[in-house]
Amino acid sequence: MASVLEIKELHVEIDGKEILKGVNLTIKQGEIHAVMGPNGTGKSTLAQAIMGHPRYEVTQGEVYLDGEDVLEMEVDERAQAGLFLGMQYPSEISGVTNSDFLRSSINAQREEGDEINLMQFIKQLDKSMEELEMDTDMSTRYLNEGFSGGEKKRNEILQLMMLEPAFGILDEIDSGLDIDALKVVAKGINHLRGDDFGALIITHYQRLLNYITPDNVHVMMQGRIVKSGDKELAERLEAEGYDWIKEELGIEDETIGAE
Ligand SMILES: Nc1ncnc2c1ncn2[C@@H]1O[C@H](COP(=O)(O)OP(=O)(O)OP(=O)(O)O)[C@@H](O)[C@H]1O
Ligand SMILES: [Mg+2]
Repeated sequence: MASVLEIKELHVEIDGKEILKGVNLTIKQGEIHAVMGPNGTGKSTLAQAIMGHPRYEVTQGEVYLDGEDVLEMEVDERAQAGLFLGMQYPSEISGVTNSDFLRSSINAQREEGDEINLMQFIKQLDKSMEELEMDTDMSTRYLNEGFSGGEKKRNEILQLMMLEPAFGILDEIDSGLDIDALKVVAKGINHLRGDDFGALIITHYQRLLNYITPDNVHVMMQGRIVKSGDKELAERLEAEGYDWIKEELGIEDETIGAE
């Protein structure tokens, strides 16, 4: 049966300031949802809160994965349960090679004694890196250290392909990519697309959605999803910006601080 990720009335504070003010979103496996919205409206906050970043305090609401309370899970349990976050700003880890990081991430999702076979891992890694047109030396370099912006993003997709999570939350996976890299990243996501994968893609640009057709597009403003539609909504945002939505909804300023 397809898994479901349900976000219900989610309120999140950072340092005592309310950023998310009641987000509702349901994603089923097999679906790709895009979230768009002006800067600073809480998109990354939503991603971080789902994954359990300690700075993001959930003050109200629920997140369920197949009825299991995600907010009750430790961060590593969320990953084990099948949630993956591709970050807007991936961190660098000196001293840990990309390949070692990937292998331990895969093994962390498996039972003890059922670790991935080394040869099988290497085979899978080579295949995925080839598909993503990555240099082979990227696997032996330290995780993200000295990686260019685009290489970091491609590497996030490599992790996604190797880990095959139930749900991927991809925060600005397209920012800073040249057009060829954008196509490669889209290819990686489309490769995973299917009945046992669901995604939440946070993006500012319609151009990514030219390569990955989303099933649903949502607009986030002032910490809430204020409008949902299909890919035509993304096209209209690209052409006209956000002012028409603000007018339609009577929103005066898109910043969160302005009450
Ligand atoms: N660690 C933090 N400390 C203080 N404020 C924070 C922190 N993280 C986020 N914020 C604030 O929360 C608000 C929402 O930030 P968030 O990163 O979720 O926005 P966003 O929608 O992802 O924006 P962008 O499109 O620029 O990535 C912003 O006003 C931001 O300054
Ligand atoms: Mg962000």
